[in-house]
Amino acid sequence: MTSETTLTVTNPDTEAVIAALLQRLTLEQKVRLLTGASFWTLHDEPDIGLDTIVVSDGPAGVRGQLWDERDSSANLPSPTSLAASWDVERVFELGRLIAAEARRKGVGVALGPTVNIQRSPRGGRHFEAYSEDPWLSGVIGTAFVKGIQSCGVGATPKHFVANDSETDRMTVDVIVDERTLREVYLAPFERMVTEGGAWLVMSSYNSVNGTTMTENELLRSPLKDEWGFDGVVVSDWMGVRDTVAAGVAAQDLAMPGPDGVWGDALVEAVRAGQVSEADIDAKALRILRLAGRIGALADVAPATPLAEPWPQERIDALLREAAADGMVLVKNQGLLPLDSASAPRIAVIGQHARVARSQGGGSATVFPDHVVTPLAGLTEAFGADRVAFAPGVRASDALLPLDGATASDPTTGEPGVHVRFLADDGRVVLDEHRGSGRLTWLGDPVLADTTVVEARARFTAPADGEYAVGFAGLGLFRFEVDGELKSDGLFFPEGTDPFMAFLNPPKQAFPIALSAGQTVELRLEHRPQQQAGLSAVMFTLGYEEPFADAADELERAVELAAASDVAVVVVGTTDQLESEGFDRQDLRLPEGQDELVRRVLAANPRTVVVVNSGGPVIMPWLDAAPAVLLTWFPGQEMGGALADVLGGVREPGGRIPTTWAATEEDVPVWQVEPVDGKLFYDEKLNVGYREWARRQRAGGPAPAIPFGHGLGYTEWEFGDATLDDLTVSVPVTNTGGRAGKQVVQVYLSRASGSRVERPVLWLAGYAVVRADAGESTVATVTIEPRSLQHWSVDDHAWITEAGTYAVRVGASVAALSSPIEFTV
Ligand code: BGC
Repeated sequence: MTSETTLTVTNPDTEAVIAALLQRLTLEQKVRLLTGASFWTLHDEPDIGLDTIVVSDGPAGVRGQLWDERDSSANLPSPTSLAASWDVERVFELGRLIAAEARRKGVGVALGPTVNIQRSPRGGRHFEAYSEDPWLSGVIGTAFVKGIQSCGVGATPKHFVANDSETDRMTVDVIVDERTLREVYLAPFERMVTEGGAWLVMSSYNSVNGTTMTENELLRSPLKDEWGFDGVVVSDWMGVRDTVAAGVAAQDLAMPGPDGVWGDALVEAVRAGQVSEADIDAKALRILRLAGRIGALADVAPATPLAEPWPQERIDALLREAAADGMVLVKNQGLLPLDSASAPRIAVIGQHARVARSQGGGSATVFPDHVVTPLAGLTEAFGADRVAFAPGVRASDALLPLDGATASDPTTGEPGVHVRFLADDGRVVLDEHRGSGRLTWLGDPVLADTTVVEARARFTAPADGEYAVGFAGLGLFRFEVDGELKSDGLFFPEGTDPFMAFLNPPKQAFPIALSAGQTVELRLEHRPQQQAGLSAVMFTLGYEEPFADAADELERAVELAAASDVAVVVVGTTDQLESEGFDRQDLRLPEGQDELVRRVLAANPRTVVVVNSGGPVIMPWLDAAPAVLLTWFPGQEMGGALADVLGGVREPGGRIPTTWAATEEDVPVWQVEPVDGKLFYDEKLNVGYREWARRQRAGGPAPAIPFGHGLGYTEWEFGDATLDDLTVSVPVTNTGGRAGKQVVQVYLSRASGSRVERPVLWLAGYAVVRADAGESTVATVTIEPRSLQHWSVDDHAWITEAGTYAVRVGASVAALSSPIEFTV
C-alpha cells in the first residue's frame, strides 16, 4: 500500500563477500559474534572490517545507549495511535523518523515494531501493539518496517510469537492450534518478512505449544524456510536459556551480553558434536549480512542510503500531525470543533492535562526533550486568559523525578542532582552532575567496581504545601532528608518480572510540609547487586506534589467547569496501571476519575471528555457525555495536537483499531493468567470484533466502540459498491461543510455452505479517502487472494475454498452496506 518499496533483494555480490569473510573467522570468533558485547551492542571483528552494531528499542522512539535525560529522543505517538490513523504513508514516514533518530544516536537496529495481537484489553503492552486484527497489524507494521529500513537501519518485528499478554511472560506456554497460529498470530510477521523484508525478528520469552520460542521450530519453519527470512533472529533480553537447544535451533543472536549461555559453552558444544559448526556458520552469516545492510561492514555498501538526522521543526511538525491523525472522536453532539471565534472560557480539568502521558511504560520508554502537555497546548492555542486549570482528583501519586527546576546540585549549585559511584575502599569511581533524578545505568562497565551509588540534591518547594520526598527503586537503599535517616532496607517485591521490577519499582515517600522556596537536602545511597544476572542500576529520586483535600479539589474543579463556557476533562491511565511487565487487573480509570467526569458533566453540559490511555478503559459516563475523544499516548506533541483537534485546525483522523467494551463483563478474552503454566487460546480465530460479531448475532451485547469507528468533522455519503474481480469500488461524497478524511473499510464473510469454520466477518482491506467539502471520489480496495483463504491443517497449506463469499463496505464494522455476493 505504500508508494515506496524497500524490500531488500539479496545482492549476489554481497553474498559472496560475506561468505568469504566468514571463511576467515575461527570457530571462537564466529561464536563470539552470536552474543551481545554489552546490553545494547554486538561485538565488532576488526579482522574482517566488522563494526560494532548498536541496537535500541524502537516502537515509539529510539532511546540510544543511554536511558536518561542526557540523550533525549523524539517521542512518537504510541503504536495504538499509529494503527488508529490507518495511514500507511504516514506510518512509513514515522519509520523514516525512527531511522533518522537511530542514525543520530549511532544506532543501527531499531527493536520494533511490536506486532503482537491485542488479544485481551488487559494486555499490559497493548499500547505498544497495533490492533486486534491481524491484517491491519501486518499492514501497519510493514509500513513501519519499510520506513525504517529505507534509511539504512534494521527493523525488528517482535515478539515472535504469541507474546500477547505479560503475566508470566518469561515462562508461559501458549497453547494455540495450528490454524489460529497461522491466521491470527503469525500473519502480521509473515507480511513484515515477505512484503516488508524485515532484517531482524525478535523471538519472544514465552513457549508456544510446549517449546520456548528461542528453541522453537517455528523459527525455522515457517519463518526462515517458508517465508524466506534471511535476517537475524535476535532473542528478547535474556531469552536464550540453553546452550545446545538454542544452538541447534534457528535462533541466531543472544542478547544482551557479554555473558550468557553461549560463548565458551557453545564452542565446547560444537567441539563435543552437540551443535554443528554449520549451525554456527549459518547464524554468523546472518549477522554479517545484517552488518552489510546497515553499513557496519567495511567491504559492503549499505542496502539503502543511511538517514541524516532531521531538523527539530520537521520532527515536531510530523509528530503533531500524526498525534492528531490518530485521535479517535468517539461521539460528538455538535460540541466540536470549539468555536474559537467566540473566545470561549475553557476549564481544563484533570491531572493528566498537566502531567500527561505521552508514552507507555517499559522498554519502549524514551526521554523526550520536551512534552507539550494538554494544558500547555490549550493555553497556547486559546490564550492564558481564556484557559483555567483544576486537577480535580489525584490520578497518580507516582514520584515526580527531581529536575533542573526543582533541585540543585549541593556540590556545584547547578540545577539538578549530584551522583557519585564509590568503590569498596571509598574510592570515587565516577562523579557526575545530572539534570534529572530519574537515573539508569544498564550494563555500564563502571558498575563492576562500584559498591555504592550516591545521589544528592537540594529540593526547593515551588509553592507552599504538604509534599512528600523519596525514592523508587529495587534493592538496597538508604535515604536521608537533611541528614535525618528516613529509610534503610531492601526493597524487592516478590514474584515480579525482573525487568519490570526495574522499570516500575516500588516507591518510598516521606511527607514533609514546606513553604515556597524552602529547601531540603536529599541523600540516597544504593548498593547495587546483580539482579537476575543483570548488571543494572535504576532508581528515581523525587517528590510528590501537594494535593489539597480531595473533596475540596473536586469541588474546585466542578465550580470551575460551571463558571466556564466549555470544560475539557482529561482522564487516563497511569504507569502503575498500564505498562510492560504486567497485565491490567481491571479496565477502570484510576479511582475518582469517573466521578470527576460525572460531576463535571453535571456542572457543564458542554464538556469534552478526553481519554489519555494506551488501551481500552471502561467509560461508564459515555452516554451522558456530548463529546468523547481518545488520544492514546500521543507522543511529545500531544498538547498542540489536542488543541488543533479541539479547535478544529485539524480533524481527529483516528478509527479505532481494537474494540472497546462497555463493561468488563462483556470483554471476550478476560483471562490472561496461565493455568499450571499454560495459557489456552481457546477463542481460536474469534479475536476481537470477530467474537463481538459472533455474540451479537446470538443476541449478545454491543461494544462501547465498535472496531473501525471514529468521527471526523464532516459528513459522508457512501454510494453503492461494485465488485470487479476482487476490486471493490465505492463512490463516496463529502456532504459536509469542510474537508475531511474517511476510512472506507471492506469486510469479507463466507455465505452459508462452507465446510470450514469461519469468523462471522473479517477485515480484508480499506482505503483512506480525503476529500474537500462537496467533493465526490471513488474509494477502491483490492482484496488480496490470501484474504479469501484459510490455513488447512490437513494440507498444512493455504487453501481457497470454492463457494460464495460476501463483501461489505462501510465506515466501521457496525456500519456496513448490504452484502455483495460473489463466487470463487
Ligand atoms: C522487552 C523487549 C525489549 C528488550 C530490550 C525486553 O524486556 O520485552 O521488547 O526490546 O527488553 O529492552
